[in-house]
Amino acid sequence: MPAIAPSILAADFSRLGELLKLAEAGGADRFHIDVMDGHFVPNLSMGSVVVKGLRPITKRPLEVHLMVEEPMRFVDGFVQAGADTIIFHLEVQPDPVPLLQQIRGLGKKVGLAFNPDYPVDRIEPYLPDIDLALCMTVYPGFGGQAYIPESNERIRLLRKLIDRSNPRCELEVDGGIDRRTISLAAEAGATVFVAGTAIFGSPAGATVATRELLGLAGHR
Ligand code: DX5
Ligand code: ZN
Repeated sequence: MPAIAPSILAADFSRLGELLKLAEAGGADRFHIDVMDGHFVPNLSMGSVVVKGLRPITKRPLEVHLMVEEPMRFVDGFVQAGADTIIFHLEVQPDPVPLLQQIRGLGKKVGLAFNPDYPVDRIEPYLPDIDLALCMTVYPGFGGQAYIPESNERIRLLRKLIDRSNPRCELEVDGGIDRRTISLAAEAGATVFVAGTAIFGSPAGATVATRELLGLAGHR
């Protein structure tokens, strides 16, 4: 069942609550909170105070994408603020097991992410222990970037590894997902689609944009 995860990074923060409700009306499955520390990625975005602010206004899961050098420093704060899923990058945690266990120990879902230049097969040993594998389809740091076409092959490989090791694990993609690229990613085997600009930058509005992406995600 495909799922759309609107990334609030692209939203007008002066209308954040209203925009979440609009995206939810369009079928948003969860919301994707892009956290950047200005070190792992060249941008600074938001902290747990945003999750705390959004928690009371939506029942949809809040997934936190930690694009930070030291994810272990931030897990407790985001969980206390109301995060349901914590996603961190393999690039900064060569041995992700202790942090995976810490997040699981807090009763939350856990995801592993990796950038477009990271070998896909390195995630294989951890697939049985995670809920979500995030294959970045841009180099992270900013919304509105173009989908990297080589991602299709990487998604296909990740789909094969997941089906072999843990079919329960979700395959999420993030970056440049729009009306054109969502079907490429779906065709390659992705099932969860992060979209920021294509939803919150759409002239059709967040409800229609989310609904349209959901429809396109289902058509392989
Ligand atoms: C990393 C961020 C962005 C964002 C999606 O830069 O994770 O990829 O979520 O941005 P769009 O959908 O605008 O490319
Ligand atoms: Zn993200």
